[in-house]
Amino acid sequence: MSETWSRVDGYIDACTGSNDDALANALRTAAEAGMPAINVAPNQGKFLHLLAKGIQANRILEIGTLAGYSTIWLARALPDGGSLVTLEFDPMHAEVAAANLEYAGLADVVQVRQGAAIDHLPGLAAEGLVFDFVFIDADKRSVPEYFEWAIRLTRPGGMIIVDNVVRGGAILDESTEDPDVQGIRRFFDAVSNDKRVSVTAIQTVGGKSYDGFALALVNSVESSE
Ligand code: SAH
Ligand code: DHB
Ligand code: MG
Repeated sequence: MSETWSRVDGYIDACTGSNDDALANALRTAAEAGMPAINVAPNQGKFLHLLAKGIQANRILEIGTLAGYSTIWLARALPDGGSLVTLEFDPMHAEVAAANLEYAGLADVVQVRQGAAIDHLPGLAAEGLVFDFVFIDADKRSVPEYFEWAIRLTRPGGMIIVDNVVRGGAILDESTEDPDVQGIRRFFDAVSNDKRVSVTAIQTVGGKSYDGFALALVNSVESSE
């Protein structure tokens, strides 16, 4: 099936405009720098872009930058005056991403903050930053902690997306010893009775194989469904 999935992705991309020079540059520089090709697929990038644009997000937080491919998609959803903060642990990734964002004309809109995300998140709260949209896509073992921070940092009505919540079906394994899969399972356990958010998840197939996104809407205090 995976060959068909990839060909269908190619067809969708060709029909929906999911590539251009700045995006191609981000993928090329990532490959040249030896980074893993674990960016979102082009149609997934556009999907994130449309979600952020659809809720008229003005402030976006991304956790896990890599070479800035998803960052470009998200930053392009912002209106004039909007901004995006993206957190990246690896100094080389952060440097390549900053160059790619500059190349994409987004240097003034995006701040790449280098370091472990968990060390940056309290500082964002201390700065009083409030986000409309959060994309969680760093180390999977820390997803429950990142999701807690995302709820805290997101306005009511804001949206949180978590990437890689299916992992080829590995999340079904209750006795997994893979800390990344355990992280996703802890996330699903925690949201199952969390009244602060309304959550679903969608399985995805395509050029990036079989995985999925979780989508959470932050509830206002009075509503819980
Ligand atoms: N969002 C990107 C892909 C991110 S890949 C895209 O779709 O284009 C995951 C990234 O998270 C990698 O660059 C990795 O270095 C980074 N990462 C891993 N652990 C991290 C941590 N603890 N804090 C911040 N970033 C981390
Ligand atoms: C991995 C990470 C990702 O964010 C992704 O989309 C795919 C794979 C990984 O760490 O293997
Ligand atoms: Mg991912």
